[in-house]
Amino acid sequence: MNFSAQDSAAVDGLHAKLSGLGITTDGDPKNISGPGGGYGFGFTDRDGLNYAISSDVAVHSDTEMVGDRPFKLSHVVLNSDKVEDQTDFYRDVLGFRVSDRTERMNFIRCSPDHHSIAFAHNEGPSLNHAAFEVPDFDALMTGAGRMKQKGFPVQWGVGRHGPGNNVFGYFFEPNGMVIEYTAEVEQVDEDAYITGTPEDWAKRVQGPDRWGFADPPTPLLRQCMGGDPQAPQVDIF
Ligand SMILES: [Fe+2]
Repeated sequence: MNFSAQDSAAVDGLHAKLSGLGITTDGDPKNISGPGGGYGFGFTDRDGLNYAISSDVAVHSDTEMVGDRPFKLSHVVLNSDKVEDQTDFYRDVLGFRVSDRTERMNFIRCSPDHHSIAFAHNEGPSLNHAAFEVPDFDALMTGAGRMKQKGFPVQWGVGRHGPGNNVFGYFFEPNGMVIEYTAEVEQVDEDAYITGTPEDWAKRVQGPDRWGFADPPTPLLRQCMGGDPQAPQVDIF
């Protein structure tokens, strides 16, 4: 997983912090050769997952919001059997903030977006799903329609999540991984936001869709979101 730091000073600071905690890195931060360039370093966490921290990576000039095209990777959800340990690591070492905890997930942020990562209580580590943000609700529906016409019908949704208040539609991609289109992600006011607890969310929202429109995820979608390496490949063609 690659994380973008604000600048080279932030990269150096994180490297010093990780080194001070005894976390092995791949050496001092350096200029990165290869596509995008930048300045950074890599490290491996206690679960053996590889990370990179970098700054000053080249930015494409065509990333403006256009129609139903995703304009950024909104969030990833990772399965974990050590959700609180991971939350502590991302908060205390990498500098993320905790937005909400529910019975199923912890949501953390590194920008005004309500969450950039969530940890799902599950067997792990594995990828639950990755979400791509589109400009708005209409773009999400248009994108979902295009996916359907191309043979990738929505597997869960369309709905609006509780934590993050984001509109969602979930799909399989050709390899059976779960991907999501999302829009209207809640923007957090750092001075006013109060981290929600599982008890709070059990009272606020019934189920994962505020609208009550989306049927529950199918067993196959749940299986793939669970990171089951034995999950059948999806027959989509
Ligand atoms: Fe999601």
